[in-house]
Amino acid sequence: MEQQINQAIWMANTEQDTIALAELLAAWVKPGVILALDGDLGAGKTRFSQAFAKAIGVKGIVNSPTFTIIKEYEGERLPFYHMDVYRLSQDEADELGLDDYFFGDGVTIVEWASLIKELLPAERLELYIEHLGDEARRIQVTGIGEGYASWCRAVNEMGAGR
Ligand SMILES: Nc1ncnc2c1ncn2[C@@H]1O[C@H](COP(=O)(O)OP(=O)(O)OP(=O)(O)O)[C@@H](O)[C@H]1O
Ligand SMILES: [Mg+2]
Repeated sequence: MEQQINQAIWMANTEQDTIALAELLAAWVKPGVILALDGDLGAGKTRFSQAFAKAIGVKGIVNSPTFTIIKEYEGERLPFYHMDVYRLSQDEADELGLDDYFFGDGVTIVEWASLIKELLPAERLELYIEHLGDEARRIQVTGIGEGYASWCRAVNEMGAGR
């Protein structure tokens, strides 16, 4: 069957609006959820990830995993795997065994996900953060797979209702 794709746009006028989207998505997490983030340097991928981590009950500081590639945290209900694949080589990817994370017990956020598109699970929620201005961001949400398609419908409804 054809993969279902759905889209939503979340307009963030302030940093708080980005945090609100992270909190909304965090409410729906379960093991195996993949959030694939893209957007220019400084768009807000890490900021979004920090808000998401906090919302699922990760205690302590979540910082950018640019040099470590992957960091693991304990959330209240499930583990949180935070990846930044900007500097990931194919050899490192093989060594890390990314599928163990993607299909493990936790929820994964991948920063710069489009760089490893072929390594990502087919079903995922893609977020493209576009830097419009000082705090203004346009976040394009694409759900691939029926589960994520329903997330997109909810994001559209919540976004319109703000
Ligand atoms: N609406 C917004 N959403 C997210 N971050 C915002 C927003 N407005 C301002 N910011 C600020 O923009 C910066 C985003 O930096 P962040 O490290 O999250 O970017 P990034 O996309 O992860 O960059 P990199 O590609 O270097 O990893 C932060 O300093 C954050 O406080
Ligand atoms: Mg980052």
